[in-house]
Amino acid sequence: MTRREDREPLSEEDLAEIAALPKVELHLHHEGAAPPAFIRGLAQEKSVNLSGVFRADGSYAYRDFVHFLNVYEAATQVLQTPRDYGRLTTALLEDCAANGVIYCETFLSPDFCGGGDLGAWREYLHAIREAAEAAERDMGVVLRGVVTCVRHFGPDRAKPAARCAAETAGNWIVGFGMGGDENRGELRDFMYAFDMAREAGLKLTTHAGEWRGPSEVRAAVEELRVARIGHGVRAIEDLALVDLLAETGVVLEVCPGSNVTLGVYPDLAAHPIARLRERGVKVTVSTDDPPFFHTNMRREYVSLAQTFGWDADTLRAVTRTAADAAFCNTDTRDRILKQLDTK
Ligand code: ADE
Ligand code: ZN
Repeated sequence: MTRREDREPLSEEDLAEIAALPKVELHLHHEGAAPPAFIRGLAQEKSVNLSGVFRADGSYAYRDFVHFLNVYEAATQVLQTPRDYGRLTTALLEDCAANGVIYCETFLSPDFCGGGDLGAWREYLHAIREAAEAAERDMGVVLRGVVTCVRHFGPDRAKPAARCAAETAGNWIVGFGMGGDENRGELRDFMYAFDMAREAGLKLTTHAGEWRGPSEVRAAVEELRVARIGHGVRAIEDLALVDLLAETGVVLEVCPGSNVTLGVYPDLAAHPIARLRERGVKVTVSTDDPPFFHTNMRREYVSLAQTFGWDADTLRAVTRTAADAAFCNTDTRDRILKQLDTK
């Protein structure tokens, strides 16, 4: 490996090529992708008081991870109807398309879309899918949904979320997972919900190893038996686990900008994404909650190139790993892979 200080800096041309690459994003929270101006606009329309959610400069205001989750949920209060989610879907897909994303999966929580009620969830899903179809037609970006339960809402609320997922599983709702505060509860408490989703044919992912250490990543693989892990980066603290990830082909949905902004790592140079990849782990790149973390997919790709010397071919390979790990059906995946080959 070339040492960082020995590498030629990438030229402006190289960076422009990297920014323009077609991209695949697997880890994006639907509400977390809401531009602050969009949330402020809805708050005004609905006369919802969102004091404390924004800084004076208009960006989202939070101090740390748990506070971020509180602010996220406060902002989500203005998303009250299927139509609001339809509008949000259009807004977030415009940002995806502007960043060269050709396929993405977003995390959708029945808790926020109808409070876990199946009939209400179907209505939200209908509005989201309508907006996604229009975006695919108009902007060429393909969206699929991964239903998520929220860890700090507890296992009892994960069950109705899994039921919503199981009842609407198919070519559009393609997976089930879990976000929220990793420091609350144990993964095995959510086994029932994950088993229900698995039996419905859904592919599985969970946040793990963002805040807790390697044992949490191991539990995600061995107990919940997920195919992908949200973050998973703290696996680097246990090299036997890193080897297990490499051998089993479990895919990490890595969100470097999110990890640095939330303070999991002090800066990108300290982030383990390159070390994980060098040891054979399948790593992919996503933004998590882009406006909260002042990032987007172009910025993620360019920062990785600048920090680790990843060239366009390396980033193309990472994108291919993401397309291979997408939860969509084979037809959709083949279509995406073909586009990656030609762009
Ligand atoms: N929900 C939204 N973003 C999240 C993150 N980074 N970790 C856990 N839950 C989340
Ligand atoms: Zn996340």
